[in-house]
Amino acid sequence: MLAVQGLTKHFGGFTAVDDVHFELEKGEILGLIGPNGSGKSTIFKMLSGALKPNAGSILLDGKEIGGVPPHEIYGMGVGRTFQIPRPIRRLTILENASLAGFYGHAGPVSREEAWRNAAEALELVGLPTDPKASVSILGAAGLKSWSWPRRWRRNRACCWRMKV
Ligand SMILES: Nc1ncnc2c1ncn2[C@@H]1O[C@H](COP(=O)(O)OP(=O)(O)OP(=O)(O)O)[C@@H](O)[C@H]1O
Ligand SMILES: [Mg+2]
Repeated sequence: MLAVQGLTKHFGGFTAVDDVHFELEKGEILGLIGPNGSGKSTIFKMLSGALKPNAGSILLDGKEIGGVPPHEIYGMGVGRTFQIPRPIRRLTILENASLAGFYGHAGPVSREEAWRNAAEALELVGLPTDPKASVSILGAAGLKSWSWPRRWRRNRACCWRMKV
């Protein structure tokens, strides 16, 4: 479904990503590991459109998405999450999760459907589904710890219903 070939990124004279190849099948979970500064985030930025590759290709179901703007790539079903979770603090946990549901779907989605998807996803990862539960109950320490951000990100990914 996703085929990365010869992916390369230079920052000035520095090569951050050099001729990377990998393939990802539907439903597959593929880990990308490497030391600090080895180019992992740069690869994700190219996959999501935040950075344009200098060379190589990123094929999604055979279609080139390398260099395509982020909002278009997102609309094609490629979602990304970030290392540091930044929920909108004045919204509840459910509302935060619902936002992802609204924007991740290919077509329009009703408020009810977005809330239902969000509640399902929250339940799946063990976060409160109470519509009044505030993000603040998660706490700064909780959000920054390994377990909460991971759950948080997984939760958002669930709501998106993305291909990748
Ligand atoms: N916008 C940029 N301009 C210049 N150099 C950059 C830029 N972004 C990343 N780099 C450099 O490219 C290299 C790869 O960075 P990247 O953030 O992709 O590494 P990483 O594998 O994600 O590291 P970490 O494990 O610390 O998250 C690093 O040497 C980094 O300093
Ligand atoms: Mg990184």
